[in-house]
Amino acid sequence: MAEPTGAAQEDVAPRVEIEVDTQFSESDSAYGDELSSYTASLTSSVLNFRNENGRSYHAYRDGTYLFPNDEEEKDRLDLIPDSPGLLADMITYLVVLGIDLSPIQPSQVPPNLKFLIDDFEDEWIEDDKFDFIHARYLAGSVKDFPKLLRKAYEHTAPGGWVEFQDWDAAMYSHDGSIKGTSIEQFYREVVGSFTRAGYIVSPGPKLEGWFRDAGFVDVHVQKYQVPMGTWPKDKHLKRLGAWNYLSGESGFEATALAVLTRHEKWTKDEVSILVAKTKNDAINPNIHAVFDYYVVYGRKPE
Ligand SMILES: C[S@@+](CC[C@H](N)C(=O)[O-])C[C@H]1O[C@@H](n2cnc3c(N)ncnc32)[C@H](O)[C@@H]1O
Repeated sequence: MAEPTGAAQEDVAPRVEIEVDTQFSESDSAYGDELSSYTASLTSSVLNFRNENGRSYHAYRDGTYLFPNDEEEKDRLDLIPDSPGLLADMITYLVVLGIDLSPIQPSQVPPNLKFLIDDFEDEWIEDDKFDFIHARYLAGSVKDFPKLLRKAYEHTAPGGWVEFQDWDAAMYSHDGSIKGTSIEQFYREVVGSFTRAGYIVSPGPKLEGWFRDAGFVDVHVQKYQVPMGTWPKDKHLKRLGAWNYLSGESGFEATALAVLTRHEKWTKDEVSILVAKTKNDAINPNIHAVFDYYVVYGRKPE
């Protein structure tokens, strides 16, 4: 093995001696007590979920993410069939790392998949660069998308790819049939509240620009129209609309409850009434609501 050169040595920050807490001896059981009190508090900082209005919310970085993390929400998100687990299962030579604020991932996972409970808006601790970074449905989760994309760029290996998939929450209808409806009011209230709280709720249409600004090349953009409900004639769109309704059926409450009660001081009952009316509108064949969904990916130059 080559000897380290003087130049390399100079680059390394000097090792500062860490002072020892001398209050414990080796046989002192109080040391064990102290250790368990630290590990217990670390564990509880992740596992002590906030319970509020009948739903539970993440504990780590409490309050930063406004959607629940309970079984009902997991079932809703499981409607979308794509996850780090599927990727790790399909391509077994890949090592897949999934990051989330909530420890709600399944325990039975392939050996090449690991989960990290962390805040992806913080510094990323991995030294290695990733070949592929994927993020989906972070509308309403993130305040600074351009910064997140710059960080993704920094942590991608040269030649590697990054893909973000996300919504434009600005719902529309081609025939004006959403005008004056509760579903229109729902999105107006919820989008307004998330925006006032500092979150980006419609990242989809801006992703391409943020990718290019971060330095990605070969940027591809695919835009999909996703109806709400089974009103379209086309079979594929009808199916998409049915899935979107199923997601909305529990997603309307999941989206609105924390943001409207915490930030706008609505009562739970007020939210429940708007959610009930919104669900009715979502299956009303005369209301033709549509959302745009964006899939954007780009490459870091070699
Ligand atoms: C709407 S869900 C989407 C989940 C999944 N990507 C999907 O498409 O089904 C958003 C997820 O992002 C996580 N999240 C939000 N903010 C985060 C942050 N700052 N750091 C890590 N995870 C975060 C939430 O805990 C939640 O699981």
